[in-house]
Amino acid sequence: MSHLVVFLLYLLWITRTKVSSNIGVNYGQLGNNLPSPQRSIELLTSMKAGLVKLYDANPEILRLLSTTKLKVSIMIPNNEIAGIATNQSMADEWVRNNVLPYYPKTLIRYLLVGNEVLSYNSEQGHQMWNDLVPAMRNIERSLKGQNIRDIKIGTPLAMDVLQSTFPPSSGTFRPDVRDSVMAPMLKFLNRTKSFFFIDIYPYFPWSQNPHNISIDFALLRGNSSIRDPATGLLYTNLLDQMLDSLIFAMSKLGYPNINLVVSETGWPNSGDEEELGANTFNAATYNRNLILKMSTKPPIGTPARPGVAIPTFIFSLFDENQKPGSGTERHWGLLHPDGTPIYDIDLTGKHPITNPAPLPAPKSQFTV
Ligand SMILES: *[C@@H]1O[C@H](CO)[C@@H](O)[C@H](O)[C@H]1NC(C)=O
Ligand SMILES: *[C@@H]1O[C@H](CO)[C@@H](O)[C@H](O)[C@H]1NC(C)=O
Ligand SMILES: *[C@@H]1O[C@H](CO)[C@@H](O)[C@H](O)[C@H]1NC(C)=O
Ligand SMILES: *[C@@H]1O[C@H](CO)[C@@H](O)[C@H](O)[C@H]1NC(C)=O
Repeated sequence: MSHLVVFLLYLLWITRTKVSSNIGVNYGQLGNNLPSPQRSIELLTSMKAGLVKLYDANPEILRLLSTTKLKVSIMIPNNEIAGIATNQSMADEWVRNNVLPYYPKTLIRYLLVGNEVLSYNSEQGHQMWNDLVPAMRNIERSLKGQNIRDIKIGTPLAMDVLQSTFPPSSGTFRPDVRDSVMAPMLKFLNRTKSFFFIDIYPYFPWSQNPHNISIDFALLRGNSSIRDPATGLLYTNLLDQMLDSLIFAMSKLGYPNINLVVSETGWPNSGDEEELGANTFNAATYNRNLILKMSTKPPIGTPARPGVAIPTFIFSLFDENQKPGSGTERHWGLLHPDGTPIYDIDLTGKHPITNPAPLPAPKSQFTV
């Protein structure tokens, strides 16, 4: 072979083995034993993550990220939404303080306003519901004012924003937010060509109902299926079923084409004694199958929306020992706090890892 051919093949090889751009990791920091930001970013880079999502706009982390190719998602904390919604100067100030010092060197691509705002069902929460879309609009104005055009504005919501999810074609938004929040939000996302960011965990519906949902279906094994009687669409996994219920809910409000980003998903690698199915084997299986599904090119999409890519952030980089709640809450990590992997995972989806041998006898009375 001539040197030129070898060189061209080499070029082809490096473009093929390029970092997977579609798979990201949530970098949560609710632990008192986590590696430094510098070490954490080295770990993310060596794992070949394409994207990283922060729960704030930490200056040290954003500065460190400027030396990487990672695309970055930053977040406005919930307690700043009210001010930003009612005062354009506060929105401008937020962008000036948290975006401009790092952009464009740090590849900030998503700016998320709040976190799971519509899950807060208190009086204060309800005020936040009303402020959410106005805050998104004010941030849009601030970015425009700075001539920034490649940062998409969104807000990650949980699946509790849906009233009905099964079968997927029955998907509808909760009536208490449908007209007041979701309609204007979808209008905003559609107009700005942004994304619907959804935190989506097949683990939760499965663990609440393990005898009615097959573990194969929840773990994306692809060897069980359910047909939606209304549409005839065939579902081979619970994640697609949940994603499509959201797509049907959006379509019913007149927005059938807003793209999705999975802002969080994952499977717990451990939990309390009675928390069924939370183990390393299932976590590895779910995340490996997820990466294969989401990084395939051309994209697979979902039954209702085939062929459309869905950028996906796995939750989470580390086990976080200060998260409140049941045992599983502190065990969503890909890595131990010392930076070693809890199980092998290839974020590029290029080197499928055969699943480990099943663990010894499960802790619970059920066999899963
Ligand atoms: C709006 O925010 C700016 C900047 O933080 C502040 O100086 C101003 O007092 C605020 N205006 C109102 C009406 O709250
Ligand atoms: C959504 O955006 C598309 C493309 O920009 C546009 O054609 C469509 O009319 C919008 N839908 C609504 C309901 O505004
Ligand atoms: C489980 O499925 C059975 C049969 O389809 C149904 O009768 C039952 O109500 C379901 N249980 C729950 C808790 O959903
Ligand atoms: C699906 O695959 C898993 C793992 O390979 C296996 O344990 C399970 O029995 C299979 N289920 C069906 C319904 O074939």
